[in-house]
Amino acid sequence: EKSGYEHFMLKEIFEQPKSVHDTMRGRLLVDEGVIKMAGIWDHIERFKNANRIIIIACGTSWHAGLIGEYLIEEYARIPVEVEYASEFRYRNPIITDKDVVIAISQSGETADTMAALKLAKERGAFIYGICNVVDSSIARITDAGSYTHAGPEIGVASTKAFTAQLTILSLIALKLGKHNGNLGNAEFMSLIAELDAIPKKIEDVLSSTHELVQNIAKDFVNATNFLYLGRGYNYPAALEGALKLKEISYIHAEGYPAAEMKHGPIALIDENMPIVIIAPKKGHYDKIVSNVQEIKARKGKVISVVNIGDTQVSEMSDYVIEIPETSECFSPIIASVPLQLLAYYIAVYRGANVDQPRNLAKSVTVE
Ligand code: M6R
Repeated sequence: EKSGYEHFMLKEIFEQPKSVHDTMRGRLLVDEGVIKMAGIWDHIERFKNANRIIIIACGTSWHAGLIGEYLIEEYARIPVEVEYASEFRYRNPIITDKDVVIAISQSGETADTMAALKLAKERGAFIYGICNVVDSSIARITDAGSYTHAGPEIGVASTKAFTAQLTILSLIALKLGKHNGNLGNAEFMSLIAELDAIPKKIEDVLSSTHELVQNIAKDFVNATNFLYLGRGYNYPAALEGALKLKEISYIHAEGYPAAEMKHGPIALIDENMPIVIIAPKKGHYDKIVSNVQEIKARKGKVISVVNIGDTQVSEMSDYVIEIPETSECFSPIIASVPLQLLAYYIAVYRGANVDQPRNLAKSVTVE
């Protein structure tokens, strides 16, 4: 069932052109200029009148939620908060019947997420689910929702479920923005055309970076620490890149917003510190350039993820991974792919069991 791949994780990474496409299928109708999502449409008044949206999740799904916040606030102009389910449930949060809660969960069985939802539901919030596993416990207690349709994810490290979650969140943000008038038609049309082009771009990234990333991975098999940096939409992508590396290779890694570096982590940088920087052209590029200068001044080893044809960041980098350009808001979907491969190959070269990392379970059904 691994279809010739050595691990489920690698198979699932390579499935992403298809899984992202499947997530959009029947929903994104580019020619008609329409996003069809029954779960949203049937409750459009709840969303339209929402005081705020609270996104609740754990782990990778929480990282997707952070990107969802950027998307929904930018395009639909509805205030969004993102919370770890485990924190939300125990802090007597303020929730009213004017709130919409979006739960994100691949498995639909995560105990903390489930408990947080029950609490929000008791207090009258409208509950929307973004789950991958059909008919899972979370999917069943929500008032409405959208399945990600990424197909079964077996590897403990989430890959294709994450990019599918980002796809759904993009669709929701654009649909709400279009409906409430915050997103003009021309911009909407150009964004949906960009979104439609993502599966092909993932395919291109997989073929153009696969070998390169394997070679990079070989040089970092003995690393003991990693920093991952990004700004804006790619700050959560940095968190996710670091989580992937931690959980399967057991190398300590931290994700950080690039500008926060100077408030602490910069003290860690020397010639032994590998730093992955996500620096696409669209999205605070000039700011990232100065962050890279700060790192190079301290001799950090820079692995950059940049757009094809990039010069400024590339020239300062020790390793360069090129990805195609897209709208800033979709760039984490593409940038995450080589980071998944990097974590995967470092783990494989260290002899780790990537599909079943120590101490981890695919779904965390205890709190
Ligand atoms: O099934 P869920 O999306 O609710 O799971 C949440 C986390 O347990 C999960 O994302 C975990 O962090 C993964 N192992 C990350 O790769």
